[in-house]
Amino acid sequence: MTTVRLNPIDNAVSFDTDALVVGIHTGPDGPHPAPGTEGLDEALGGRLAATLGSVGMKGKPGEISKVPTFGALTSPLLVLVGLGDAPEGDYDAEVLRRAAGIAIRALAGTGRVALALPAVSAEQAGAVAMGGLLGAYSFVKYRTTGERVAPVTELTVLSDAEGAQAAVERAATLAGSVSLVRDLVNTPPSDLWPARFAEIAEQMGSEAGLSVEVLDEKELEEGGYGGIVAVGQGSARPPRLVRLAYSHPEASKTIALVGKGITFDSGGLSLKPSAAMDWMKSDMGGAGSILGALLAIAKLELKVNVIGYLCLAENMPSGTAQRPSDVFTSFSGKTVEVLDTDAEGRLVLIDGIARAGQDNPDLIVDIATLTGAQIVALGWRTAGVMANDDDLREEIVEIAGEQGEAAWAMPLPDELRKGLDSPVADIANLHPERFGGMLTAGVFLREFVPDGVRWAHIDMAGPAFNKGEAHGYTPRGGTGAITRTLVGLAERYAG
Ligand code: BES
Ligand code: MN
Ligand code: ZN
Repeated sequence: MTTVRLNPIDNAVSFDTDALVVGIHTGPDGPHPAPGTEGLDEALGGRLAATLGSVGMKGKPGEISKVPTFGALTSPLLVLVGLGDAPEGDYDAEVLRRAAGIAIRALAGTGRVALALPAVSAEQAGAVAMGGLLGAYSFVKYRTTGERVAPVTELTVLSDAEGAQAAVERAATLAGSVSLVRDLVNTPPSDLWPARFAEIAEQMGSEAGLSVEVLDEKELEEGGYGGIVAVGQGSARPPRLVRLAYSHPEASKTIALVGKGITFDSGGLSLKPSAAMDWMKSDMGGAGSILGALLAIAKLELKVNVIGYLCLAENMPSGTAQRPSDVFTSFSGKTVEVLDTDAEGRLVLIDGIARAGQDNPDLIVDIATLTGAQIVALGWRTAGVMANDDDLREEIVEIAGEQGEAAWAMPLPDELRKGLDSPVADIANLHPERFGGMLTAGVFLREFVPDGVRWAHIDMAGPAFNKGEAHGYTPRGGTGAITRTLVGLAERYAG
């Protein structure tokens, strides 16, 4: 685990570290070091600018160069990272997060790294810390051979900004949660099944002071959680519903979060093709992000009540699996015809959403790796946000943007409801039309939202898992997406 601390910037030249990171801007007159590096340049005999050309650094975002300091600085290594054009006003927090993440990823194996990126406000110092910590993540638990590079052990953010200490601590708390979510997503499904996930949530939740309730398969059956039971019945490892509650005595608002927690999605009897299956260990990312967010919210002692529901099941084909054309009664009392067992996420979510209504929350937000159609519509990195309330939808998109988690507003067109009519039950889980699949899933969920409750749905099928190369502060594999947005939402509703 990488630790982070704050230090005044004035001693960057003599700061005892293994690598010192500074920002470089592009500009009409060529690349130039970011403000705040004047002292370093002086110590280097004014050669910093000249060095940029010789190492081919233009200052574009994504660029990185390592330059030996030959004793001119205490740090043996100076790391130049591109920041793009110098901003007219404040630095964009996401530019700083990404630059810090890129630098730290490039420095894996280095012990101590000091970040002298521009951080003149608390927000900027927090962004540098966040990007650095998230960039330091690695998942090596299952490696016994080959490269096993140790992550950076100690990060220092160099900043004099007022409030920077609190911002850096907040970043450390959130980064800890995001790392947990990444670990859970990356864990092979052989080691993470519903009961195991529930155990982890119970242990970590209790330690953080949350009240935790776990319903096992028998209690789910007796309690009328028809959707979670139906999806989980094909697996030898039965389903669970976890309720995690955080409350603050001065809170005036209650947020309910409902997460899709399919520990592995084979598709069930409507089996997925092999190529679409291996990364379905990530199908519990929504539930993961809720656990991570709640742990951070508790640690930050936010003045808001937050209740999280983790809808945990493994979607498997077997002799006990649900069949296409089966009908179950959901927790809401409505019946559902299952036309496609691979549209299982919505089936577990509706039980969680209906149950969340019993808490009388001010709003319900569900988070799910719900549809391949989300990836078709918005690509790998941008989550879709739908809601029964325009203001809530805009608010979530805005909060996600502040945290650097790309999200985009999507509609819930009423005309799509008709296609979900079932000849035998109240509703079917599949729309005959493939197009707009992200939206039909949202329209399906909306039918189960308790009357009068503001509700939003975040589909992060793409963002939850990075199948490509690492970028910015995002590693390959589990990303921990939307965790920070959920904490940001709680901060916004905190008194
Ligand atoms: N877990 C998948 C969605 C998914 C796809 C997540 C790709 C991440 C990456 C979900 O359960 C699913 O299978 N959805 C189906 C729904 C369809 C049968 C209506 C899909 O999107 O194909
Ligand atoms: Mn599925
Ligand atoms: Zn799924």
